[in-house]
Amino acid sequence: CGVVGVVGNPKATDILVQGLEKLQYRGYDSAGIFVETADQQTHLVKTTGSINDLQKKLTAADQGSTGIGHTRWATHGGVTVENAHPQYSDDERFYLVHNGVIENFQELKDQYLQGVSFKSQTDTEVVVQLVDKFVTIDHLSTTDAFFKVISLLKDSSYAMVMMDRKDPTALYVAKNKSPLLIGRGTDCNVICSDSIAMLDVTHQFVEIEDGDVCVVKADQLQIYDSKRQLVTRREFTVNVDPSASDKGTYPYYMLKEIDEQPNVMRRLSAKYLSQDGQTVLDPNLLKAMANADRIYLVGAGTSYHAGLVGKMQLERLTGIPTEVRVASEFAYDEPLLSEHPFFIFLSQSGETADSRQVLVNVNQQHYPSLTITNVANSTLSREATFTLLLDAGPEISVASTKAYTAQIALEAILAKAVGEHLNRAVARQFNLKQQLALVAQGMQMIVDEKAQIEKVAQDAFVNAQQAFYIGRGIDYTVSIEAALKLKEISYVHAEGFASGELKHGTIALIEAGTPVIGIITASRTASLTRSNLAETEARGAKTFVIARAGLSEAGDTFVIPDVDELLTPLLSVLPAQLLAYYTSLNKGLNVDLPRNLAKSVTVE
Ligand code: G6P
Repeated sequence: CGVVGVVGNPKATDILVQGLEKLQYRGYDSAGIFVETADQQTHLVKTTGSINDLQKKLTAADQGSTGIGHTRWATHGGVTVENAHPQYSDDERFYLVHNGVIENFQELKDQYLQGVSFKSQTDTEVVVQLVDKFVTIDHLSTTDAFFKVISLLKDSSYAMVMMDRKDPTALYVAKNKSPLLIGRGTDCNVICSDSIAMLDVTHQFVEIEDGDVCVVKADQLQIYDSKRQLVTRREFTVNVDPSASDKGTYPYYMLKEIDEQPNVMRRLSAKYLSQDGQTVLDPNLLKAMANADRIYLVGAGTSYHAGLVGKMQLERLTGIPTEVRVASEFAYDEPLLSEHPFFIFLSQSGETADSRQVLVNVNQQHYPSLTITNVANSTLSREATFTLLLDAGPEISVASTKAYTAQIALEAILAKAVGEHLNRAVARQFNLKQQLALVAQGMQMIVDEKAQIEKVAQDAFVNAQQAFYIGRGIDYTVSIEAALKLKEISYVHAEGFASGELKHGTIALIEAGTPVIGIITASRTASLTRSNLAETEARGAKTFVIARAGLSEAGDTFVIPDVDELLTPLLSVLPAQLLAYYTSLNKGLNVDLPRNLAKSVTVE
């Protein structure tokens, strides 16, 4: 979910709505705002659906100078207007927006709120009803009641903003685990889950820390730490060009982002490799990694899949054993760590709560870490020892494409740099500058052949119930990502499989016409994967092949140019991205905003 707040700006409603639009990557199943209007009236507007639907419900009368807003990705309670935020107290005095999960909401309800009638099934409503109880029954001030409620929240995550209808000159803010920033405007202050929401108002932000509670007025910002001492927090300036997130003439962001990949490769090469191919990275980072006896790559979703490729690159070029872990698994079942571990966090957004929880644990144990992310100043970037930016430009479509390939390219650069630092010949001899140029060219060839891919999508995928991608080694890692793309946006049930493993059970699912796509880029396993494809064909499957030119055979569906084995995912994934795109498009679905998902999941 995403939260926003504005205090003391006559255009507050517009700012809230535009901010929410930018935060839709955090969820878009319902939305709402609460504003105080110029004539001291208050307006609550909520809807299911996207910010576009919210906008349709707003009238000129809803323009206000102070307000809060929310875009939701449902956790507790279905997608209904009642469960949309702002949530409010029974007497309609306190209004609250919240990103996160109140883990002990049921206990709080049982202990303090017997007899209160609840309008929603959300965990959030408990917070706002509790504030109201402490103010109206126990006669605490709003600030004290807010402090007290926050102190009662156990093991919870929250970025919340509350408004008291009786005094709308102040917003009450609290943060734990979920990201939250305060932006300093001219004669006004703003609050947001991510700076991108407020760049039209300000570029100057204050980083709120876990446990902090703030009272924000138009001309004043008071931040209290968890001991309720007044503190100051780090301020930073965000320099992002807001126009970079323009869709241009593309029907969907996803297609634009797929097409941008050749340029992303060129940009990374220019930024991190010198003209003569030397890596240009922070020597302290290389030293820290070279000292590690084991590298742990941590990520979620597509970023985790990029980590699977990174493991192969890092092990080959640095010789350091490398593990890849799903963030949500690592956070609460930490594996036995080596003596000198180094952690790499992969995250497009830099905001994924699952990954952030691992970083919190890692920081508690004082281990060095690196975040590879697309978003400067994001939470994971701020909290890790080192950061490398993908510089892929904003990725708006929920299904990740250019961030995946950027992560893989940057992991290769990092692996080469660390390998060279360790004086390994294999790293020195890896001509990455030249290889990335070939990759960019190859990507361009593939995106120029869209029509052919669209035809395959129409012929075999639009009406499919299920599909399989198979491959071995590095191709297996791509097959998992390829299947995820298809699932996410076209709702075709798809699985990525190690081709040799399919016959040990899952082959039972193959039916007449089931599409099976083999990815073949490694010579030592090419014929084996072809045999596995033949086995599925013998059982009725409709088979397709994505093959590297040097290994291709007549009849292969997509032939990708030859590049070094460690970089083949950068090319083999592209036909799969386009196949998912055209399947979704031809099914008439909203490619960029698939059902049930969020671009960045900020709850665990
Ligand atoms: C969400 C998105 C995925 C993404 C994952 C990790 O689930 O829907 O597309 O891969 O989060 O996001 P991150 O920003 O950490 O890479």
